[in-house]
Amino acid sequence: MTLPTARHLESATVRIDYEKCNVCGLCAKVCKGAPLHFENGKVTVDQARYFGCLGCGHCVAVCPTGSITVEGRDLSQSSFMDIPFDENRAGYEELMALMLARRSIREFDYREVEQEKIDKILVAASTAPMGIPPSDVEVLVVNGKEKVREFSDDVLEYMKSQKWIFSKPALLLMRPLIKKEEYEVLDKFMHPVIEIFEEKRKEGTDWLLYGAPLAMHFHVSPYADPADPFITATYAMLAAETLGLGSCIIGSIGPMLKNGGKKVKEKYGINPGNQPGIVVIFGYPAVKE
Ligand SMILES: Cc1cc2nc3c(=O)[nH]c(=O)nc-3n(C[C@H](O)[C@H](O)[C@H](O)COP(=O)(O)O)c2cc1C
Repeated sequence: MTLPTARHLESATVRIDYEKCNVCGLCAKVCKGAPLHFENGKVTVDQARYFGCLGCGHCVAVCPTGSITVEGRDLSQSSFMDIPFDENRAGYEELMALMLARRSIREFDYREVEQEKIDKILVAASTAPMGIPPSDVEVLVVNGKEKVREFSDDVLEYMKSQKWIFSKPALLLMRPLIKKEEYEVLDKFMHPVIEIFEEKRKEGTDWLLYGAPLAMHFHVSPYADPADPFITATYAMLAAETLGLGSCIIGSIGPMLKNGGKKVKEKYGINPGNQPGIVVIFGYPAVKE
């Protein structure tokens, strides 16, 4: 059996160098796919067993003799790197300091975000866990204040075109078909929010993306766990904090684009079948908290 993702319908290939293997069994122990198993006192690969090789790479990571190679599902020999020694890892205190320092930032100064920092955020985000490896999370990077404003305007135009759905008469018609809580959110949050965004846009202020210099939209294929983009986005936000950048999650765009926004998706190269995930804005804070 093989667990499919958007880009991979095959298991990864696992090879064992029996000359080097000391039969410690650690690889079979951590393999939950679980093609690696013991047979006649020897570690054996059987891709038909349970889920087959997902390409998690854990067998390579634990093998003390470097006897295993895994290729496919995005993995190659160059994918593997040394895991940092304990002394290079953030401890609980450092992590807490970072997490307590991270607060949502909605006021940004004049500076654009350097490409080097954008790259670092993406590399850090790429270490996030995912439902089924390899991750299908895609990131739309909108870089530069003007570009972010254009993205915001495009989304707001779409929101405006959909405002009637959240109007009182339309909501009353929908009422028997939707849950009470959903009705209340649409009535008391979505409708007024779109009106406020529109009003502020007319005044020249962007209340959707707050004039940020960088936005990332984390979205994912329909094969993937819907939580994947949220976890990846969270990693990105924490990485941004280490680089002196502030960030803020923008939750309203994902649900708006869930069942529509064809033109926006086309313009920004977002696969129309993808699960919309979440947007995060980044930039240098104008107000230090
Ligand atoms: C799923 C999610 C969606 C959010 N959407 C928005 C948003 O659309 N606009 C906004 O200004 N803040 C948004 N936020 C940020 C929250 O308002 C913020 O995290 C919360 O007020 C706590 O503040 P803190 O992040 O400074 O701790 C969102 C946060 C989450 C987790």
